[in-house]
Amino acid sequence: MVDLDTIVSLCKRRGFIFQSSEIYGGLGSAWDYGPLGVEMKRNVKNLWWRDNVHRRHDMVGLDAAITMHPKVWEASGHASNFADPFTGCVDCGRYYRADQVADAQKGSKWIQAIRKFLEGPAGQKDPEKALQNWAQNDGRKLAPNHPGVKDPSKAGTLKSPGPSTCPFCGGHLSDPKPANLMLRTTLGPVEATGIQVFLRPETAQGIFVNFDNILQATRKKLPFGVAQVGKSFRNEITPGNFTFRTREFEQMEIEYFCRPGTDEKIHQVWIDARFAWYAKYGIRKENLRLREHGKDELAHYAKRCVDVEYNFPMGWSELEGIANRADYDLKQHSKFSGQQLTYFDEDAKEHITPYTIEPAAGADRAMLAFLIDAYHEEEVKGEKRVVLRLHPELAPVKIAVLPLLKKREEIVKTARGLCDELRKSWVSVYDDTAAIGKLYRRQDEVGTPFCVTVDVKTVGDPEKNEATDHKVTVRDRDTMQQIRVPIAELPAVMRDLMDGRWADVAPRYPAGGTTAP
Ligand code: GAP
Repeated sequence: MVDLDTIVSLCKRRGFIFQSSEIYGGLGSAWDYGPLGVEMKRNVKNLWWRDNVHRRHDMVGLDAAITMHPKVWEASGHASNFADPFTGCVDCGRYYRADQVADAQKGSKWIQAIRKFLEGPAGQKDPEKALQNWAQNDGRKLAPNHPGVKDPSKAGTLKSPGPSTCPFCGGHLSDPKPANLMLRTTLGPVEATGIQVFLRPETAQGIFVNFDNILQATRKKLPFGVAQVGKSFRNEITPGNFTFRTREFEQMEIEYFCRPGTDEKIHQVWIDARFAWYAKYGIRKENLRLREHGKDELAHYAKRCVDVEYNFPMGWSELEGIANRADYDLKQHSKFSGQQLTYFDEDAKEHITPYTIEPAAGADRAMLAFLIDAYHEEEVKGEKRVVLRLHPELAPVKIAVLPLLKKREEIVKTARGLCDELRKSWVSVYDDTAAIGKLYRRQDEVGTPFCVTVDVKTVGDPEKNEATDHKVTVRDRDTMQQIRVPIAELPAVMRDLMDGRWADVAPRYPAGGTTAP
């Protein structure tokens, strides 16, 4: 499996994801989506919305405000329960999640990760820099007296596993204290008189507090669900692993309301559907698994919870949580707001509080998993080819139109014109900044599923008395196969190819085309 550094470097080099405020030294754990990244993340969110809202009769959408009445968080339990225990090193000033220090003392994953990193090629070249990079990617700063900085052989001995010693410098750790994970801000021009509000830590509560509005407006019958995509904020103690855990991130959440008693079956249906969704868009099944939460780890609101996990380079980790929240939230908001959030059951002729099934996914985390799973390296004619085998619907660019010779005006004009036509239906780019072999590799590396090449035969060569064949070469990213397609048939062919029908289309056209694989 590819390591995270390779993905981070590809993302920066090709404009998927940049470090936030990089010219000022960067802001830990915040990331900016570049020209390709913004397209791909939109694709993730749009596919999620299309499959979960537009293609279902029982779902509607919502876009609630990020800031909400402070009482929302009292009712939801976030004001009192949304905390991780943290501990600080009194010697080097680093903070840790107390549970992660406990892990570290059992021969932790991250100590093993540091060791592996230092023993690898980057560490052997420049251990100090390698370690600093590792720590930065993992959202940590290294203590200057970290023994691994000067002597990588000592990295393996990090760090004295007493119950209260710092995993980095061996210093003394304070007793664990709870840290509320909600970020605060003030609404109003004067801080002293403004209202203190929280930046929402989940999109879910916006749905619960609008339950009655949505019911009145849509007249939906149970079971039905409400979907929302938007930013959430958490003051995570240890953000890290690139976009896996950040303090600002996008969630894609569904609250699916159903009759009590039907909840368990519906929960299972959602668990299976959400697992299948990731596989449908290309994640290999062997890299996905379901994990049932133990009774001791269930959130305060959950009757049952199952995570879809992905085999990330740092190990199996949560991609999405699917919880049965029972009637906790609607009852809490009824109690705190004084407004009954119930549903009138026509059959039973009584008001009931629906149960809620909540598939809660992260757009950033899903995109990271799709990128990692799509990454492949292979050898073609003695050279390394990097290819992102992204599902065409996830790929940021669908078609690249490339001129074989940029000196031939007719070729460039035809290619640009074709690109403009194709752009009306698919995200398409024109590129003439290198030789064709290099142009293909560039598109492979960012996952563009198809290249269309305009060459001499397409436009003809009057000087050599060669007539135009009015055809272009269409090249498939994954197999590198090429076929010769009449320009007039290109839109129809492209529609089939985007639907994954290369094997049906290719035999209808002559193979071969524009030389380089
Ligand atoms: N409403 C339930 C809820 O928020 P969660 O498991 O805390 O549940 C749901 O979050 C999803 O949101 C996670 O599975 C993950 O994909 C994403 N997520 C949560 N915290 C995140 C963070 N700090 N950075 C990036 N994504 C995060």
